[in-house]
Amino acid sequence: MPAGRALARVSLDAVRSNCARLSQGPKLCAVVKADGYGHGASQCARAAKAGGAQWLAVATAVEAAHLRFEGLDLPILVMGALTAEEARVAVEADADVVAWSAEFLAALPPNARVHVKLDTGMGRLGARDVDEASAVVGAVAQDPRLDLIGLMTHFATADEPSDDFFALQLERFTPWAQEMQARHGELLVHAANSAATLRDPASHFGMVRCGVAIYGLDPFQSDPAEHGLEPALSLESYVARVERFEPGESAGYGRRWRATEPTCVATVPIGYGDGWRRALTNNCQVLIDGRRHPLVGTVSMDNITVDLGAETGVRTGDPVVLIGAQGEERILAEEVAKRLATINYEVTCALSPRVPRRYDP
Ligand SMILES: Cc1ncc(COP(=O)(O)O)c(C=O)c1O
Repeated sequence: MPAGRALARVSLDAVRSNCARLSQGPKLCAVVKADGYGHGASQCARAAKAGGAQWLAVATAVEAAHLRFEGLDLPILVMGALTAEEARVAVEADADVVAWSAEFLAALPPNARVHVKLDTGMGRLGARDVDEASAVVGAVAQDPRLDLIGLMTHFATADEPSDDFFALQLERFTPWAQEMQARHGELLVHAANSAATLRDPASHFGMVRCGVAIYGLDPFQSDPAEHGLEPALSLESYVARVERFEPGESAGYGRRWRATEPTCVATVPIGYGDGWRRALTNNCQVLIDGRRHPLVGTVSMDNITVDLGAETGVRTGDPVVLIGAQGEERILAEEVAKRLATINYEVTCALSPRVPRRYDP
C-alpha cells in the first residue's frame, strides 16, 4: 500500500553533499528560513552542519528560537527586519542580528551580536548611504553593550548571469568592507547567496549565505546537476481510482477538461490544499509507471486527475511522483516553477503542513 495520500521525501544525504560542495572555499552559512524552504528547518540544519556548514541563517527571531529548541548549536544569523521585541527574542536565542540604523541599535538588549548591512542596490534592507553604514559600524564598535561581528550586503540579480548590476553591487560593497576592516579589525564579511556563490568567487569574502542550493535547487532555474547539486525533495502520492472515460465526459470542477476519445483517468489525492497549485490545472505532468502523464482538469483542494491514455496497466495504489524521479523519468521543481511562471523557491515553500515530510538519512 502507498505510504499516504501525499508525502514529501527529503534526502538529508543530498543536503549534506550539497553543503559539502558549497563549503569548499569560504565558510558556509546554511539558510534554513521558511522551514528550510519547505524541506524542514532543523532536520536540514543538522544535515547542513554534517556537510560542513558553520553558520545558520533564518529570517525571523522565532525561527532562530525554534532551531535552538531543536538543539542546533551553530551560530545563527537572523537576517530579517526586527522589532525591539523580536530583537530581544533573537538575542535570547543567542542569535546574531542585522542592523543599519542608530534607532535599532538603541533598542537592542545588552550582549547583542551585530552584523551591519549596506544596501548596495537590493533596495530592501540596510543603509543605502555608505557614510551612514560606516557610522552604524562605528557606533556598534564603540558601544560596550554590543559586539560587532560582521558586514553584509545582498545581491538583487546574482541569478541573472548576463546582468551587470551584480558587478556594480560588488564594486560598492568591496571597498566599504575593506575600509571597515582597516578601521575596526577583522570582521566576518558576507554577501553571496547561492547564485553569487556559484557564479563569482570574488563575492565569497569570509562566508557565503546559501539557501536554495543546499536543497539541490538551481538558483538559475535550470538543471541543478549543472552545478553538482542534487535535489533533496521529492513529492509523491498514489493512484486512488482508475476509471474509463468516454468522449465528452469531464473531470473536475468547471469541466475544464473533457475526453476527446476513450481514455482512462486516474484520481490522485493531492491538491492545492497540499500546495499543488491550482494554476497547474491542465498544465503539468506527473510520473506514473515510469512515464509522464498529463494532469487534466482543474486542480481541486484535495485531488487532481491524470489522463493515462486508452490502454493502461496503471492500477489503484500505484505510486505517483509529482516532483522527483521514477524509472528513467524525472520532474524537477524547476519544471513545475516554469509552468507556474514562478521560481523553484516558491514551489517547495508552497508545500503545506498537511504534507508529511519523511527524512531519508
Ligand atoms: C539576505 C539573504 N541572504 C541569503 C539568502 C539566500 O539566498 P538563496 O536561497 O538564493 O541562496 C537570502 C534568501 O532569500 C537572503 O534573504
